[in-house]
Amino acid sequence: MEYVKSKIRDIIDFPKPGIIFRDLTTMLKDAKAMHMVADGLASLYRDKGITKVVGIESRGFIGGSILAYEIGAGFVPARKPGKLPADTISASFEKEYGFDTIELHADAITPDDIVVIHDDLLATGGTMNAAYELVKTMNPKKIYINFIVELSALNGRDVLPKEAEVTSLIVY
Ligand code: PRP
Ligand code: ADE
Repeated sequence: MEYVKSKIRDIIDFPKPGIIFRDLTTMLKDAKAMHMVADGLASLYRDKGITKVVGIESRGFIGGSILAYEIGAGFVPARKPGKLPADTISASFEKEYGFDTIELHADAITPDDIVVIHDDLLATGGTMNAAYELVKTMNPKKIYINFIVELSALNGRDVLPKEAEVTSLIVY
């Protein structure tokens, strides 16, 4: 994954002073890096019986869709407020550079599902923790958590549920 990491660009003080923003757009536009990410995600989850991939808006939609396609699972979008048309459940949380809310359709997941929640990046863990709590209310058989990038200095793993298996392809 060193090649993929080399394609990620650092932007200092974005979107606020003091934040080092890991810009994945430079990785996304590189065909070889994208191929390696797709293969890496698929090899982590191919044999786990995953039935649904939950992707977190918006950057989590990219890798989440690729992963769902690669392993033959369905895709469920976790969206920003007011975007989903049917009944929703929602959770509010704090993230590295602000506050936010995400929503899931209330019928998105069933107790028969085995779920992996995917996002592009783990910073403080606020976003993923909120997504996990929402998915958990629908009682799937198992919930996995996955990121392309983990910012270990922010200790996001420590706030994630201890019972969840967490993977990331690239660690800073
Ligand atoms: C980013 C990133 C994660 C979240 C991580 O999303 O894609 O979802 O922040 O931060 P945390 O671990 O501190 O919660 P952002 O809210 O910027 O939205 P975007 O995907 O629409 O750019
Ligand atoms: N989301 C939250 N913190 C981030 C960071 N430092 N870089 C990129 N995306 C982020």
